[in-house]
Amino acid sequence: MSHLIAPSILAADFANLQRDIEMVNQSEADWFHIDVMDGVFVPNISFGMPVISAMKKHTKKIMDVHLMIVDPDKFITDFKKVGADILTVHYETCKHLHRTVQAIKSEGMQAGVSLNPHTPVAVLEDIIQDLDLVLIMSVNPGFGGQSFIENTYKKIIQLKDLIEKSGSKTLIEIDGGVNDKNCSKLVAAGADVLVAGSFVFKSENPTETISKLKKG
Ligand code: DX5
Ligand code: ZN
Repeated sequence: MSHLIAPSILAADFANLQRDIEMVNQSEADWFHIDVMDGVFVPNISFGMPVISAMKKHTKKIMDVHLMIVDPDKFITDFKKVGADILTVHYETCKHLHRTVQAIKSEGMQAGVSLNPHTPVAVLEDIIQDLDLVLIMSVNPGFGGQSFIENTYKKIIQLKDLIEKSGSKTLIEIDGGVNDKNCSKLVAAGADVLVAGSFVFKSENPTETISKLKKG
C-alpha cells in the first residue's frame, strides 16, 4: 500500500473552513486529520463537537480524529455521532486502555492509540493486535508548526517490528513537523500515514503540496 496523507485541519483558515475542506476533498489527500485539544492534557484548546459536525457536512474523506483530552471515554459516543471514522486516544490519558479501545470499536469506529515523544513503543506490546492505528507524535502535542523530533525514526522501526511480530495490520501514523524533507525517510522507515498541518495550509499551493507529499 502506498502511504496516505492526512492534512491537519488545525492549520486551516477557520474563517474559511468550507473552502479549505473542499480543497482537501479535491486533492490527492486521503484523510482529514482533526485535532481535539482540551487545555488540560495539552496546553492549548482547539475545537469540539459543533465544529466537527459542521465539517462532516462537507468532508468526502475519512475523518481521523486525534483526541488530546483527559478522560476520553466520556466522549466516545459523541465523537461517533459527529462523524469520526477513526478515533485515536493518547496512551498517557487512559488508565484502562484495553477497555477504551474496545469501547471505540463497539461504536463501529477504528481505534488508534497515540504516543507522546517520551513514551516508548514497548508499552503497546500487549495491545498492538487490537489496534487499527498507532499515532507516533513527532512533536510534543498541543500546537502546529513545531520542529520534527529526529528520534521518531527509531520509534517507527521499533513499532514496525512489533506489528510484524504480532501479525496485526496496524497502521503507523506520524504527526508533527512533517514536510518534504522528511516524508520519504518516514515512509522508508515504515510510516503508513503522514499528517501535515502547517506544511500544507501555509504553503502557496496546498493542493500541489499534498501531491508532493503523496509522491514522497
Ligand atoms: C499537534 C497536532 C498535529 C498538528 C500538526 O498536537 O496533533 O496534528 O496539527 O501540525 P504540523 O504539521 O504543523 O506540525
Ligand atoms: Zn494530530
